[in-house]
Amino acid sequence: MADMMWAGRFSKKIDDTVNAFNSSIAFDGRMYRHDIQGSIAHATMLGDCGIITKEDSLQIIDGLKGILADIDSGKLPLDPSAEDIHMFIEAELTKRLGDVGKRLHTSRSRNDQVAVDIRLYLRDEIEEIYALVKKLVVTLIDMAENHKETIMSGYTHLQRAQPITFGHHLMAYVFMFLRDLDRLKDVSKRMNYCPLGSGALAGTTYRTNRKQTAELLGFTAPMPNSLDGVSDRDFCVELNCALSLIMTHLSRFSEEIIMWCSWEFKFIELDDAFATGSSIMPQKKNPDITELIRGKTGRVNGDLVTLLSMLKGLPLAYNKDMQEDKEAIFDAVDNVKLCVKTFIPMISTMKVLKENMRNAAARGFINATDCADYLVKKGMPFRDAYKITGTLVAQCIEKNLTLETLPIEDYKAMTELFDNDVYDAINLETCVRERKSEGAPSPESVTEQINIARKALEV
Ligand code: ARG
Repeated sequence: MADMMWAGRFSKKIDDTVNAFNSSIAFDGRMYRHDIQGSIAHATMLGDCGIITKEDSLQIIDGLKGILADIDSGKLPLDPSAEDIHMFIEAELTKRLGDVGKRLHTSRSRNDQVAVDIRLYLRDEIEEIYALVKKLVVTLIDMAENHKETIMSGYTHLQRAQPITFGHHLMAYVFMFLRDLDRLKDVSKRMNYCPLGSGALAGTTYRTNRKQTAELLGFTAPMPNSLDGVSDRDFCVELNCALSLIMTHLSRFSEEIIMWCSWEFKFIELDDAFATGSSIMPQKKNPDITELIRGKTGRVNGDLVTLLSMLKGLPLAYNKDMQEDKEAIFDAVDNVKLCVKTFIPMISTMKVLKENMRNAAARGFINATDCADYLVKKGMPFRDAYKITGTLVAQCIEKNLTLETLPIEDYKAMTELFDNDVYDAINLETCVRERKSEGAPSPESVTEQINIARKALEV
């Protein structure tokens, strides 16, 4: 077992089980690049402020770059018995540089390091997730463009309700994901403050330059309070919230896709490359991807609860409980990336069975509101028109007809306001075309929505 860096105060070596229990390198090892990036900024500042000599500073920076190259190339594997990635890199530096390496940790603490590393790491991840969600939005907008005239039923309570188009339906998701993009940007902005220089908790007596390190690392400014600097994990919670919402949107969409590819709906057919079969039932083609996304949503929400519960009872400043933040937020980040990456090609290759959508739309009396509106436009109060139309629907059900096939005599028997033009008014294409209000399903309104979405993507 390796000697611990803090061994001076102790008379015994750490117990192996405790070391394994305590160690976080298995999951914080992925931040090695960011740890080195932070250390280079710190060493630069130490040299510039005269806290260590310029030569030592340059040698440390060189040594760190060498370690980075060796980890990148696989020449230097991470030692699983190391306490964490911060200790591992510092120990390696000292191994390589001797006493000079030991100077790097002047006026900083691991609490500093871990706080800065997660921020740097998550900043990169957010950028990647942002690009992925943006790609999803672009994909959905293109699909919506192609389905501005594809009639389908809109639902409430999963009962056929009113006519919309598939394009209109897709655009609803576009706006959800656009809000997700906004949230990611927001989190990035708020978390982009630099904790480095907070020390263990109470700053330092050295004359450091926190503005310089913040700037070198691309942060907006140093965090103003050192206790908050080392103990704030709000940004993990916020990011996980944003990720949970992305998953929630993906999950609702997935649920619809699962229904749509059932024989009961058959609105879509998944591409063979994005579906799976059964080990026993030869006829099966299962939407596993979407089910997994729905399932993983619970897991990402679980990560959020882990983070909130971890934080809620912690006294200031750093506590080891905080080490638990990484597995949770990394799991959330990893799973969101996986889900969005898989969802995009799945949705863009699925076949939309327009005919089936149209047929289902024709069988749910989804033009009943339009029939009532027809009477209203001829002067009848809406509540009376609503009642008459309800009666007509009941007659249709009894006679196994639709509003389109119900004879004009039956209409006229209810009120003389009905004329032959009622058939045009309740025609599904008319119903959609006439729904021109802002945000509505008419092709015109959907084009307007597409324009708004495209504009939002530009910023
Ligand atoms: N591995 C630790 C973590 O992830 C690093 C900080 C350790 N600090 C300490 N004082 N033990 O939180």
